[in-house]
Amino acid sequence: MPDSQKIYLKDYTPPAYLVDTVHLTFKLSPKSTRVISKIRFRPNPDSDSREFFLHGEHLTLIRAAIDGQECDPAVTDKGLTAQVPDAPFTWEAEVEINPQDNTALEGLYVSNGMYCTQCEAEGFRRITYYPDRPDVMATFTVRIEGDLPVLLSNGNPTASGDGWAEWHDPWPKPSYLFALVAGDLRNHPDTFTTKSGRKVDLNIWVRPDDIDKCAFGMEALKKSMKWDEDVYGREYDLDLFNIVAVDDFNMGAMENKGLNIFNSSCVLASPETATDANFERIEAIIAHEYFHNWTGNRITCRDWFQLCLKEGLTVFRDQSFTGDMRGHGVKRINDVLQLRGRQFSEDQGPLAHPVRPDSFVEINNFYTATIYEKGAEVVGMLKRLVGDDAYGQALDLYFERHDGQAVTIEDWLKVFEDATGRDLIQFKRWYSQAGTPVLTVTDDYSDGTYTLNFKQETPPTPGQDVKQPQVLPIAVGLLGANGDEVQKTVVLEMTKAEQSFSFDGLPAKPVPSILRGFSAPVVLHRDTDNTERAFLLAHDTDAFNKWEAGRDLAKDSLLRMVTDGAAPDTGYLKALAHVLRDNTLDPAYRALLMRTPSQDDIAQTLYESGHTPDPLRIYRAAETMAQAKAQELQDLLPRLYAEMHTPAPYSPNPEPVGKRALQGAVLSLLTRLDGGDQARAQYGAADNMTQQFGALACLLDAETGAKELAVFYDQWAHDRLVIDKWFGLQVAVAAPEKAAGIADSLTKHADFDMKNPNRFRAVFGALSINAAGFHDASGASYRLLADWLIKLDPVNPQTTARMTTAFQSWRRYDEGRQALMRAELERILATENLSSDTSEMVSRILNG
Ligand code: BES
Ligand code: ZN
Repeated sequence: MPDSQKIYLKDYTPPAYLVDTVHLTFKLSPKSTRVISKIRFRPNPDSDSREFFLHGEHLTLIRAAIDGQECDPAVTDKGLTAQVPDAPFTWEAEVEINPQDNTALEGLYVSNGMYCTQCEAEGFRRITYYPDRPDVMATFTVRIEGDLPVLLSNGNPTASGDGWAEWHDPWPKPSYLFALVAGDLRNHPDTFTTKSGRKVDLNIWVRPDDIDKCAFGMEALKKSMKWDEDVYGREYDLDLFNIVAVDDFNMGAMENKGLNIFNSSCVLASPETATDANFERIEAIIAHEYFHNWTGNRITCRDWFQLCLKEGLTVFRDQSFTGDMRGHGVKRINDVLQLRGRQFSEDQGPLAHPVRPDSFVEINNFYTATIYEKGAEVVGMLKRLVGDDAYGQALDLYFERHDGQAVTIEDWLKVFEDATGRDLIQFKRWYSQAGTPVLTVTDDYSDGTYTLNFKQETPPTPGQDVKQPQVLPIAVGLLGANGDEVQKTVVLEMTKAEQSFSFDGLPAKPVPSILRGFSAPVVLHRDTDNTERAFLLAHDTDAFNKWEAGRDLAKDSLLRMVTDGAAPDTGYLKALAHVLRDNTLDPAYRALLMRTPSQDDIAQTLYESGHTPDPLRIYRAAETMAQAKAQELQDLLPRLYAEMHTPAPYSPNPEPVGKRALQGAVLSLLTRLDGGDQARAQYGAADNMTQQFGALACLLDAETGAKELAVFYDQWAHDRLVIDKWFGLQVAVAAPEKAAGIADSLTKHADFDMKNPNRFRAVFGALSINAAGFHDASGASYRLLADWLIKLDPVNPQTTARMTTAFQSWRRYDEGRQALMRAELERILATENLSSDTSEMVSRILNG
C-alpha cells in the first residue's frame, strides 16, 4: 500500500467552509433515487484556505448551482471542486444514486425491500456532495418522497402527506449521523418521561413478521435512558427516539441522531429465538447507541483519529451500565475475556496500533478492538486514578465545555486536568503507544515490611520500537495465612519503568492479590506456584482475581499438557470441584470458573513465551482437560444440573440467566459421560433458545446430533437469525480436519447468501474461531476463506476487510502454516481491482 494514500493526524486542517443548514429532498426509487440538496455555506474564519471541495463517490451529478446560478464543477471519483464566493452562499445540487445495487451497505441501500442508510464513517458522500467530515456540523431538514408507508429521518417529524414526509433535526450534527429509513414497517411504541418532564415517544420499527421480538429491546432502551440520567445526569433531547431493525448491516448498530439503525441480530429477541447471550448483547448495544447521544452526537470527534473519544468512552459507559444491571463481578470477567481474546492478540500482531492512531488509509479499518476495548480500559484507568467523584466532575465539565463541538483527546484530557489539578502528560501515552505492557512482579518480606517490586516493559509494535513507561493503576490487596484480608484494596500508581511499594506492620508474609479487577490492561507475570493460586481461588475477596487464580491454574496445566505432555493437573481439578460446590457463589460466576481458557489464549501465551503453538496439540489438550473435568466432577454434575433448573416461563433476568449458564457448562461435561442422554432430553423439553441451542451444541460436539440438527433447521427455516445460528454452530463445533469441508458445503446450501453479512460471518466467523479447524495443517480452511474473501470483496469491501483479521496471527505458527497463510494473503493482495479496504488490511497483516 503506497504511503501516498495514507492520511495523517498531523496534517489536520480546519475545513475551509462551514455549513449552517442542509435541506435534502429524496425522491426514492430502487435503481434511480434522486437527491436534491440545498446547503448554506460560509467561509470558516479559522481557515486560511478558500478551496471549495465536496466529497462525493458513486454519484451521478445531474445539476449544480451556486446562489441560484447553474455552475459546472470539476468532478472526480472522489468529489468535486468549484469556484465559490468569499462570503456565505447557497449550494444546490441534484444527484442520482442506485440504492438497489448498493451491496457495500454504505450510503443509501435497499435491504429486504426497505431503504436505509449507513453513513459512519464516510457513507454520506455516497448520498450527495458534501464536506463529509465530522468537524462540519449543521442542522438538517429532510423531505422524503416515496410510496412506502413509513418514511423516517433524524429529529422530529414536521409534516407529512400521502407519499411524503418532512423531518427537522434541531441539533447541529456531522453528516455521519444522518439517517433515512423507508419501508413497510410496524412499530412497537412506548414512551419515556425524562427527569425534567419531557415526554419522549419511543418506537422500535421492524418488518411485520418481527413485531413480537421488540419488547425486550424497548425495556433496555428505557433502562438506558434512566441510567444516563441517574449516573451521568444526561437527558434525552428530542421528542422522539426511533430504532429500526435491518437485516443487512455491516456492523452491530449505529447511533444516528434520533434514529438508531440496528442490525436485526442486535435488537430482535424472543425467548424462543434468542439465547441469553443474545439478550445481554442486545441490552448492551441498545445502551451503547443510546449513550452516544451525548458521547458522540452532542459532543463529537474533530476527525476520525479521535474515534476512541466517542467509542472508548461509550463502551466504558455501556460496560458500567451492564455491570449495574447484571452484576459487576461477572461483567468485568467477561469484558476482560473479550479484551484478551481480541485486543491483546491485535496488539501482539501486525495490526497493533495506538488507541489514537496517527495514520490510516481506510477509516473503516480502524473500528478495532484497540479503539473500542483498550479505549474503554483507558477511560476506566483514568476513573480509577482520579476517583469516582473527580471523574463525575470531569465529565460534567466535559459536557458543559464542549456541548455542540467536535473535539480531540487533548480537549478530553484537559477537562480532567482542569477538574482535578492533575498533570496527565504521562498518562497521555496510553493514547499514543501501541502494545500491551508486560508487568513483572517480585516480592520480599522482612521485619514486618512487605514489598512489591514491579517492572513494566512494552514490546515493540509495527513502527514503534521504543516505548516509554506508562502510568499503571495497580489495585492490590493482601491476604493473611488464614485467608483474611490484612490489607484492603489500594491503588498503587506506577509511573516508572521499575518501582517498588511497601506495606508496613505485617506480622507475617502475606499473599498478594495483584491487579484486582484487572485495573490495567497489561500482561501480568509473576513467578508463583499453584499452592498460592489455589489459596487465592479459595480466599480472594476480589471476584476478578479469585476467578483469575482458577484460570491461572487451568492455564498452567494446559500449557504443561501441550509442551511436556503432562496429564491434567489434579490439584486444579480438585480446587475447581471445591469452588463449584460453594453454593454461596453466584451460578453465573461458577459458570465462568468452569470455562477452560480458549485454545487461542493458549496459543497466544505460548507465542509470548517464545514457543511455536501447535493448534492440534492445543486442541487435544483442551479435549483431554474437558474429559478429565467430566471424570473428576462426575458425582457433582447431575446434582448441579438439577439444582440449576429454572422454572417456566423464560426470563432474561440475571438470576435465571446465571443458572442456565452454569447448567449449560455442566451439560457439556455431562454429555461426555452419558453419551448425550441429558442433552437430548433438554433439547426435547426446551421452551427457549438458550436451552435448545445449548443442547444442540453439546450433541453436535459429541457427534451425535445429526437428527436434532435437521429437526432444528425445519423448525426454524423461516427465521433468518436462528438459521444464522444453525450455520455457525456446525462450523464452530466441527472437528479440526472436518471444519473446512463443512464450511465449504454450507456455502453451497440454498440459504447461504454472501450479500448478507450476518450469514457470511455465521460461516466464516465460526471457521476462524474454530482454532484447530482454521489452522488445520492441510491449509484447506485458509484456502476456503481466501476464496470467499476474494469473492466478497467487490460486493462488500468493508466486511471483507474485517474478516481478513482471521489471518492476523499468522506469524505465531510454524513455518509450514506460515507459508500457507502467506500464500493466501498474497493471492488476495494480487486480486485485480481489490478494494482499498481489503488491500490495506492484507498489506498490514503481511508486512507489519
Ligand atoms: N458507531 C458505531 C457503529 C459503526 C462503526 C458504524 C463503524 C459504521 C462504522 C456504533 O456505535 C458501534 O460502536 N457499534 C458496535 C457495537 C457496540 C456495542 C460496541 C458495533 O456495531 O459492533
Ligand atoms: Zn459506538
